[in-house]
Amino acid sequence: MIEDKVKNRIFNLRNILNNHNHLYYVMDTPEVSDHEYDQLFNELSSLEEKFPEMKDASSPTQNVGSIAGSAFNTVTHDVPMLSLENAFDKEELERFDKRVHEKLKLPINEPVTYSCELKFDGAAVSVIYKNGNLMRAATRGDGKKGEDITHNIRTIESLPMTLTGDDFPEYLEIRGEVFMTISGFSEHNKIAEKNDEKVFINPRNAASGSLRQLDPNITKNRPLDIFFFGIGQISKDFIPKNHHETIDNLKNWGINICPHRYIAVGIEECLAFYEEIYKKRGSLDYDIDGLVYKVDSIDQQRNLGFVSRAPRWAIAHKFPAQEKYSIVEGVHFQVGRTGAVTPVAKIKPVFIGGATIQNVTLHNMDELKRKDIRIGDTVSVRRAGDVIPEIVSVITSKRKKSEMVRMPQSCPICGSTIQKVESEAIYRCTGGYSCRSQKIEYLKHFVSRQAMDIDGMGSKLIEQLVDKNLISTPDQIFKLSHSQLCKLDRMASKSAKNIITSISTSKKTSLSKFLYSMGIREVGLTMADTLEHHFKSLEGIKKASIDQLLEVPEIGPIVANNIKNFFTDDSNQEIINNLINSGVTWHIESLNKNDEKLLLKGKVIVLTGTLEKMSRLEAMDFIKYRGGKVSSSVSKKTDFLVIGDNPGSKLKKAEELGLDIIDEENFISQYE
Ligand code: IVH
Repeated sequence: MIEDKVKNRIFNLRNILNNHNHLYYVMDTPEVSDHEYDQLFNELSSLEEKFPEMKDASSPTQNVGSIAGSAFNTVTHDVPMLSLENAFDKEELERFDKRVHEKLKLPINEPVTYSCELKFDGAAVSVIYKNGNLMRAATRGDGKKGEDITHNIRTIESLPMTLTGDDFPEYLEIRGEVFMTISGFSEHNKIAEKNDEKVFINPRNAASGSLRQLDPNITKNRPLDIFFFGIGQISKDFIPKNHHETIDNLKNWGINICPHRYIAVGIEECLAFYEEIYKKRGSLDYDIDGLVYKVDSIDQQRNLGFVSRAPRWAIAHKFPAQEKYSIVEGVHFQVGRTGAVTPVAKIKPVFIGGATIQNVTLHNMDELKRKDIRIGDTVSVRRAGDVIPEIVSVITSKRKKSEMVRMPQSCPICGSTIQKVESEAIYRCTGGYSCRSQKIEYLKHFVSRQAMDIDGMGSKLIEQLVDKNLISTPDQIFKLSHSQLCKLDRMASKSAKNIITSISTSKKTSLSKFLYSMGIREVGLTMADTLEHHFKSLEGIKKASIDQLLEVPEIGPIVANNIKNFFTDDSNQEIINNLINSGVTWHIESLNKNDEKLLLKGKVIVLTGTLEKMSRLEAMDFIKYRGGKVSSSVSKKTDFLVIGDNPGSKLKKAEELGLDIIDEENFISQYE
């Protein structure tokens, strides 16, 4: 049997050669002589000859004269890449600090040491070094799975291909943020504008777009840089005691660390550092959207643990929303999945809160009227972090010539009549799914994570598929072939294969997800779950009369009508039949089998707060498979309330009604 030592040497040699190939072919900066390169190459070739079971088509011995390109393979992060909880003011930070003290059982007058860092506004990456050699880099993706971008990350000059020193761990996975410098971003846009080429929207988009290039020669010419701020996984030969020392070590191994760091004793010192950075912000050549405070002691971090998708030991202190003036140059109308026509203001581009804002949704005509927004008006625009930008108000003193906005009579996309629904503030396009916009939004909803969860089917792909007449209804997704996908723009055979696999994997779903994916008006996740629970089968829901639907406490006349209308429509029937014939299935075995063992049989449960052990969807599944039912509001009919972190008004209401309240941990241990 092949020894681990030999295996490791083979993997190492492949890495080393890949790195040298990259330096030679892409960067034009070879670091070893041809002779040294040949020696490494020959050593690998002879090992692969001797151990043919180790042969691999992606080995540099099989790809002579090129760089190994594993572009955009999906990689699973061994440790999920989490996000951070946000705080916008002193009070929120003090609450965070208090929670830290409580959880650590520390008296509040004993300050916690925090490691303060900048919060870089770029693209999060994970980079793995094995025996000091850069092995793999991946994007954050959805936190669990990202894309392999090794070929592109290697073009960032400040990123070492090999670590320096001799005390680095055997295995090191580091987390950081790739960003485009502001000066590089402006320079690039100036040239692009002159050459009539596409300009970048903001440095963050520019960074993530640059990382997702197929050709590393393009990435090489982008002004990218990287700062690292943490560790994902590390071999046991390095045991970090606190965060700041870990970062110091990374620095000693040649890894790029931002010089603006601070060890704060207590939250007051964090705030002082914040003030200092807030003033400096404009002079930095990279975008930051706040600061991050991390409990410094690794032991304390371990004790604090995680809440759903964020650590309890860290918090992002975000910069406040920024407001800037701009001018409304026009208003266009967008058509959503249900045909709702939404006015969107096109404003003179403003760089605000780390992004160039050009389009601002006005939500509906009532809002537009309430704020009295007209074309030509000077308006104040606000944006905070990732929050959707909004027009705060019109500066009426600056109003000169302005034009009122009117809802068009026909759909700007398909030309069908637009109707106002009397009882709602909404105007709708009557084109249904013959309207391109409605069709695309419907399909996007169908494939979304909480619906059929077809991984890799993004908006751009759906638009192409619709425009090439390959799909117009969801069932047609399941008929797509590999060769059809391969013919699309920017679609390599491997990616096409991944999408076909995702489509096939998505066929196993749950009845509630299936119902939700149908996009029935007013049938959200909770309602879909209620329907599954009450009727237990698709047939049951399909056959239910309006009266039977109204027997379900959560269903009112509007929803009942929507459901009935949906299932009596012939084209919907056909889509459903086709989906089922394509193999879309779900199981509700625990609802039928072992009925007496269902611990939550007949119980109505409300969830509130941030759950730590499972996502909302998982919690709903947990309850459902034990025969219980999830309701979205607390009432006398509620059997008990399950609370996560930061429960809100539902807790208060449940207390008032004298309901049983149980925390997540006890809930799981009692009913698992
Ligand atoms: S720590 C478990 N530190 O912010 C700890 N994140 O909103 C998670 N980010 O996805 C991250 N600067 O990409 C951390 N100094 C910093 C950061 C930082 C930027 C990004 C990171 C993360 C996102 C979370």
